Amino acid sequence: MSKKHRKDLGFGIDVGGSGIKGAPVDLERGRFAADRLRIPTPQPATPEAVAGVIGQILDSFDWAGPFGCTVPAVVRHGVVHTAANLDERWIGVDAHDLLRSKTGRTALVVNDADAAGIAEVRFGAAHGHSGAVLVSTLGTGIGSALVLNGTVWPNTELGHLEIDGFDAETRAADAAREREGLDWQTWAQRLTSYFTRIEALLWPDLIVVGGGVSKKSAKWLPHVHIRTPILPAALLNDAGIIGAAVLAAGR
Ligand code: BGC
Repeated sequence: MSKKHRKDLGFGIDVGGSGIKGAPVDLERGRFAADRLRIPTPQPATPEAVAGVIGQILDSFDWAGPFGCTVPAVVRHGVVHTAANLDERWIGVDAHDLLRSKTGRTALVVNDADAAGIAEVRFGAAHGHSGAVLVSTLGTGIGSALVLNGTVWPNTELGHLEIDGFDAETRAADAAREREGLDWQTWAQRLTSYFTRIEALLWPDLIVVGGGVSKKSAKWLPHVHIRTPILPAALLNDAGIIGAAVLAAGR
């Protein structure tokens, strides 16, 4: 059977600041069905240029069906509303219309952290946990996904909570650690302040931390002191692609 007709396969694309990555996804097992393809994000990352790369990725896998696509921004019903770490020309763009006209396929466009959150709950670190799960992705910015019994409340944007007069992601994202040359323990103190605020407002049952630092969790996780159970993400950088594919397939 051709991969175009297999109901257990979907396709996900993750649009990041430096790379646009895509792969077919095994929707039953929550993992890539083939090696992903990564193409550097065009600069400037205008909506048209990014859509062109997305079309290239779909073509290279001969993928003709609907697909999921993440962007690091608030997305409501396909329309992009913010651009904290994205080219400003995306604001106001109906990404569903753009991708349909540029690629000839139907897209479901979602916030990157929301997609990662769904993947971690279905297949990753939060699998089997009921209740309220907060997935926090620490990278250039801080993304958040609030998932209650398997359903995500979209666009929670908790990386932009104001803490001590600062936008939280400017102090506690992984990029802040690198920019300021912080040691792991000092950075973990900032995470403690950040997650303590989240706890006070939302009282999640579990926090899962994603982003590249999740694979180095032994260095910083023991220094984060909060009352909520906290786990590193399991799907690492694959989570966005997997979650987007799952959501686009209506699973
Ligand atoms: C954006 C979010 C995004 C997060 C992670 C933040 O700056 O506002 O929409 O999920 O970065 O990329």
